[in-house]
Amino acid sequence: MLRDIIGPHLIKKWKNTRKENIVSVDETMLPEVLRIQAEVFDGKNQESLIKYSRKLSKIFYVIKSQDKIVGYCAYYLKPEFSLKGLKKKSVIYSIAIGKKFQGKGYGRKLLEESIKEMKLNGICSVLLYVNVENTPAIKLYKKMGFEIVQKTEDICGQSEKCFVMELKLVC
Ligand SMILES: CC(C)(COP(=O)(O)OP(=O)(O)OC[C@H]1O[C@@H](n2cnc3c(N)ncnc32)[C@H](O)[C@@H]1OP(=O)(O)O)[C@@H](O)C(=O)NCCC(=O)NCCS
Repeated sequence: MLRDIIGPHLIKKWKNTRKENIVSVDETMLPEVLRIQAEVFDGKNQESLIKYSRKLSKIFYVIKSQDKIVGYCAYYLKPEFSLKGLKKKSVIYSIAIGKKFQGKGYGRKLLEESIKEMKLNGICSVLLYVNVENTPAIKLYKKMGFEIVQKTEDICGQSEKCFVMELKLVC
């Protein structure tokens, strides 16, 4: 896919913000990230998560509490070409907080901090796909300023209905 070729190139000069307890993923963290993914999503699509952790590690964020990994948020970049030039959008591929740590503010912090970094790097908007029945996640995204832009089928999973949500940033 085009985005798999362009994405790593676009993040070569990625700038980091100062973040407390949030780091970019590395190989040593991967087993715990995959464990959390399996715990909350039944281990679906682990290959893609591994791919993003290697190709786009700078925008694959891991949140810790007292040195323990409690969740992650993995993005990929979606370049759009227009007459005005290249417009960079990002997409949240997967976000999850371990079951024991949900509802304690980690998801919100992870999004707030990673979105600050997206702004610093000239990302024009952040997109995500969420199952229409995933009320906790939808509530969180709305609180962060995301808006529903489309309802679609078969993107989140076979026969699953999901919303496309977008947070517009100034760029
Ligand atoms: C969705 C998820 C990432 C949210 O992270 P979290 O750390 O549990 O959420 P936070 O504690 O930061 O909560 C932030 C806001 O989300 C909403 N929220 C979180 N959990 C909720 C729940 N169980 N019910 C309703 N709203 C909830 C609330 O609006 C909350 O704000 P408040 O605390 O002021 O009420 C996490 O619950 C998770 O990993 N869920 C399973 C995986 C998943 O569904 N990922 C999203 C796929 S698109």
